Amino acid sequence: MVKVIMLGPPGAGKGTYATRMAPKLGIPTISTGDLLRAARDDPEIGGIIRKYQDSGELVPDEIVINALKKRLEKDDAKNGFILDGFPRTIEQAKALEGITNINVVINLDVPEEIIIKRLSSRRICPKCGTIYNLLYLKPKVDEICDKCGTKLIQRDDDKPEAIKERLKIYHEKTEPLIDFYKEKGILMTVTTDRIDVPPEEQVDKIMSILKEKKLI
Ligand code: AP5
Repeated sequence: MVKVIMLGPPGAGKGTYATRMAPKLGIPTISTGDLLRAARDDPEIGGIIRKYQDSGELVPDEIVINALKKRLEKDDAKNGFILDGFPRTIEQAKALEGITNINVVINLDVPEEIIIKRLSSRRICPKCGTIYNLLYLKPKVDEICDKCGTKLIQRDDDKPEAIKERLKIYHEKTEPLIDFYKEKGILMTVTTDRIDVPPEEQVDKIMSILKEKKLI
């Protein structure tokens, strides 16, 4: 059984790689960003989620931890999972330790200039969640999802002001997790040094790490 955390700044490729790894590993990708976006119309917590997500700030720990706990209880997560975007604070990492154990943390190390270019050109499918990029991972037909034919959209938090805020928050709140997991001996870093590196190349590197660690 393999339980993986994808750690990295916004735009590092967590979702892009996790969704390519999941079918190879036969386990689900669990993205807290997607879980929260799916709850934006919830009468109780939707308003809070919208306020934090749209400005690029972190949604309060209690809401995120509850959403993750519920998701991990589903049957498909019983044989392992890939966490995309969780944990993002030391408090969340400690809460996760009380819920389950993690085998490996893949730390995606990507220079800031690449991140900014990638996020401002990202488009997503609002129906099936497929991630595209207008520079390097274009859909076959302009602005239309290859998989389901839906018109692609830009996320509200991929606008320049929100990108700046998300990077600032990453450095303040999430980056300390690198040392947290290094000390536990489960952190493995995958570095990106060029913007046009094909996702498959990075996914192969991650799969090799999982093999070396005898997790698959
Ligand atoms: P979330 O949806 O998790 O966003 P994020 O962490 O900011 O990460 P992104 O989805 O922006 O980036 P990514 O690393 O997945 O990159 P991607 O693969 O898309 O969270 C959104 C918000 O929800 C947060 O700001 C917060 O408000 C809230 N939230 C979520 N989790 C939370 C938590 N735990 N606690 C509190 N709040 C939480 O790639 C980026 C682009 O690069 C794409 O366009 C992709 O196509 C492109 N690309 C091109 N070439 C490549 C390549 N070779 N590799 C990777 N990507 C490539």
